[in-house]
Amino acid sequence: MRPLTVIGNWKMNGSLASNADWVRIVCRGMEQGMPAGRKYAVCVPAPYLSQCGQLIQDCSLAFLSLGAQDVSAYAAGAYTGEVAASMLKELGCHYVIVGHSERRQHHHEADEQIAEKALQVLDNDMTPVICVGESADERNSGREVEIVRGQISRQIAVLQDRLADCLIAYEPIWAIGTGKVASAQMTQDMHRAIRLQLAEFDEDVASHVGILYGGSVKPDNAVELFAMPDIDGGLIGGASLNPQDFLAICQA
Ligand code: PGA
Repeated sequence: MRPLTVIGNWKMNGSLASNADWVRIVCRGMEQGMPAGRKYAVCVPAPYLSQCGQLIQDCSLAFLSLGAQDVSAYAAGAYTGEVAASMLKELGCHYVIVGHSERRQHHHEADEQIAEKALQVLDNDMTPVICVGESADERNSGREVEIVRGQISRQIAVLQDRLADCLIAYEPIWAIGTGKVASAQMTQDMHRAIRLQLAEFDEDVASHVGILYGGSVKPDNAVELFAMPDIDGGLIGGASLNPQDFLAICQA
């Protein structure tokens, strides 16, 4: 059985003061009781990992895990400005997002590099959250499954059965931060297609891998999305900035 996993992605938002408020509110809310058998995490900007890791540790009940938004494809060395997976591990991260569409778009990250990043994360005993998804043009021209299949097959080529220890986040680019959420059925169809593709490679991998949905998830659409058989949780951008909304989605 795959646990439902809800992961917040603050992107480049936050401050020392607002982070402290956020963690305090979410921890207090979670202490009131959360649905059993679920996993929750928040991926914060790298400079705040240490602060948020400490704040989360100070919560009396450790419901929430820490995550990062990106990682280097290299283990160590002369890569100015990059952050190694071993460093994220030392700071207490459990999850690392790799290949977010904003990194693909603004930093020209390619699937092969994204897979190398996922390997670094796995080598350091953390869970990579590998993002895939099509653009509006690609969906409008009916190529969404072909595009996502291509992205997944390039992950399979590098990661092989280590994919079983990854999460995949299907995030249609046209739904990210736009308020245009993909319908629950449309999302289920894509998640099913991804799972069938994984099963073509390895049935065991297909049944283990959690496939999260990301793109304008809000408290009022999370219930319907999470009820779908192949949607194993969500990657939450904008709505995760508001601690009450994040809590409501975690409880959905
Ligand atoms: P959004 O972002 O929830 O603001 O659409 C999701 C994401 O980019 O991970």
